[in-house]
Amino acid sequence: MIKQQGRFFALTTRRTAYCFQVTEQGLLQHLHYGPGMDLTSGWEALVPQVRHAPGNGAVLDGVVLEDMALETSAPGLGDLREPFVVVDTPSGSPVDFRFVQANLLPEKPELAGLPSATEGGETLEITLADRRSELLLTLRYTAFDHCDVITRQALLTNTGNQSVTVRRLMSNQVDLHSQDFLFTTFNGAWAREFEPTDTPCGPGAVISGSRCGVSSSLANSFVILRSPGSSEEHGSCYGFNLLYSGDHFACASGNGYGKLRFLQGIHPEDFAWQLSPGETFAAPEAMMTWADGLSAMSENLHQFIRRHIVRGVWKDKPRPVLINSWESFYFRFTQRDLLSLARQSRDLGVELFVLDDGWFGHRDNDTCSLGDWTTVNRKKLPDGLEGLANQIRSLGLQFGLWVEPEMVSADSDLYRAHPDWILGRADQAVGRHQYILDLTRREVQDHIIAAMTEVFTKAAPAYIKWDMNRIFTDTFSAGLPPERRGEVRHRYVLGLYRILETLTQRFPQILFESCASGGNRTDPGMLCYMPQVWLSDNTDALCRCRMQYYASFGYPQSVMGAHVSGSPNHQVLRRTPLDTRFQVAAFGLLGYECDLRTLSPEEKRRVAGQIAFYKSYRQTLQYGQLYRLRDGKDGFWQVMAVAPDKSQALTLLFQPENRPNAPALRLLARGLVDHAAYRLWVRPVQVDLRDFGGLVNMVSPVRIRQGSLAEATASKLMALSSEEESIVASGSLLTACGVWLKQGFSGTGYDEKTRVMGDFGSRLYLLERQEAPAAPESDQH
Ligand code: GLA
Repeated sequence: MIKQQGRFFALTTRRTAYCFQVTEQGLLQHLHYGPGMDLTSGWEALVPQVRHAPGNGAVLDGVVLEDMALETSAPGLGDLREPFVVVDTPSGSPVDFRFVQANLLPEKPELAGLPSATEGGETLEITLADRRSELLLTLRYTAFDHCDVITRQALLTNTGNQSVTVRRLMSNQVDLHSQDFLFTTFNGAWAREFEPTDTPCGPGAVISGSRCGVSSSLANSFVILRSPGSSEEHGSCYGFNLLYSGDHFACASGNGYGKLRFLQGIHPEDFAWQLSPGETFAAPEAMMTWADGLSAMSENLHQFIRRHIVRGVWKDKPRPVLINSWESFYFRFTQRDLLSLARQSRDLGVELFVLDDGWFGHRDNDTCSLGDWTTVNRKKLPDGLEGLANQIRSLGLQFGLWVEPEMVSADSDLYRAHPDWILGRADQAVGRHQYILDLTRREVQDHIIAAMTEVFTKAAPAYIKWDMNRIFTDTFSAGLPPERRGEVRHRYVLGLYRILETLTQRFPQILFESCASGGNRTDPGMLCYMPQVWLSDNTDALCRCRMQYYASFGYPQSVMGAHVSGSPNHQVLRRTPLDTRFQVAAFGLLGYECDLRTLSPEEKRRVAGQIAFYKSYRQTLQYGQLYRLRDGKDGFWQVMAVAPDKSQALTLLFQPENRPNAPALRLLARGLVDHAAYRLWVRPVQVDLRDFGGLVNMVSPVRIRQGSLAEATASKLMALSSEEESIVASGSLLTACGVWLKQGFSGTGYDEKTRVMGDFGSRLYLLERQEAPAAPESDQH
């Protein structure tokens, strides 16, 4: 809701308020962002009372900007914090934007060429004009009431008759009245996405950003500002993100007056945009939320992403269980291999077969053929892509395909025909032996659209994994004059968005999954086109448990692809139980990425059981509200997904290391209906006799040698079942106290009342709401 009282403006949502005022100088002074409140009177109480300019502060029209919280800022006016907008004007004077007008728009406008959140209602549009040049700055604010999210847009228009150079135009600025915050960023590298870092704020700037050309695993565009004592349940927490897939910048810059400025937008380094007369430059849309506690913050962001970012036919649809060919075959496969893997997968319950890299040109390794999408490798696929796709479909599976359309190999027909289509010079620092196509150029965009249209039309895939395996190095573009060099990186992203917009409109039924060497381009911008993302190439259950946990601070599990892979795992060579690999992947969009044909009959039976289980609970696992309950500090990780109607919940307990003689353990719960009764049970897993080693001989009538055939036979014949848990308790009891679980194995005995979890062990517990018992008949006698 948008409220105005004279010069005061407020955006209010269910539990938050965002307030600012227009000062007598025409400045936009920020007053409050945080908990909601009754604003019927007393707006003035939000305005700091400043009578005298402090010390040597620069005074502009009677005020010291450095000591003010503002909605926008620029250098050269006495405000020394990182600025919102920087423009080189013909006169060389600093820009100084002042209020012109406020308008209420019935709907949030879309941004030309950029993705924006859907179903944004009433929008407050503020126009400011530069006092010295003919530049207009437009700021738009939209409140999303139900999920406590506010979006912002910023646009700069040149109404003069000379060009200017925009050096930076941020998307969001929030000036806080305290520096007592931690800046939480999500950092990492290939296979190590979403490692959290807390940096205390204070005087000076803390910066997090990407200069890779993509939103990057180095620093995700999702960041948090939170009070130091904040927890899942309480504390002031701001979550910020950007609908953008290129170089981004987030900064918390503190000054000498106890103020902290948060900025987010396109990374200003290497950015310079020539704005000609009559043109408008739009910054990407920003999103933010405030909540009391990290859990509520995440819930707001999850709901917003599910409802207003993800769109199209797949928006709320159950996602199929897939098998991906990559870790089974890498580049070495035949059509026969693929079909036999598909058949096996289908028999176990898989719904979608995805052919990964290696199907085109002569791509037997990663040094060649990117770009030659319409030349199918007939040696591997004698019936062509169409032939394979049809055979997969006739098995009763959907067909999916991997592509990496933004790239070209030096050894490719495309590069030989168009050596000038690459970004940068040929002798640049390359990654994975490949060049990036110059997506700033219309003819290159059109070529990609045409090539993909041909592939998608022929193979008719139900799913596309859209990969991007390079970071930017040399960004010279043969298509742009030297003075526009600073536009290349952003123009690339705009080119990409045009391609994605065209293809997703043309093939609305395809489920796209965004991938960039795993999670190197996980951002709300991509999610506007692709409803899911391959979170990481790392499929190790322990790493994934942590990664999915931390990614959930900003993103819902309904956007995270998660696969069961082989053991030992290919990225870290760790051996983990099959049940754990499944139970971790089940808290994402389940897939398998291993050669299911090579599993033992017993393992196949278990995989079939996993898939059947997942399908029964898929709606809650994919779309339930996710709660984080344990972060590994007490030796366990625990997350819980609760169905929107709270009729059902599933919770994962993961134990990285088995502690001897460990303290008794309680299962925790959140998000249930207090007065409702829930039945708790645990998904049975297999306990392998061999895990007991020589201890078996304490109970076995005959001596069994470890590693012997007798041991293997005994383990097959004597299936040990895991412990049982069964209890009915109220939601409030489960939330307040949790449930004491069966004792963990501690070297002294084993029976059905002992939990044998071992290293990397896990359990999946279910909570199902019971029908309300009929009211007892009252005793009439
Ligand atoms: C990237 C992806 C992988 C796989 C390979 C294929 O590394 O992240 O999942 O698709 O490319 O080359």
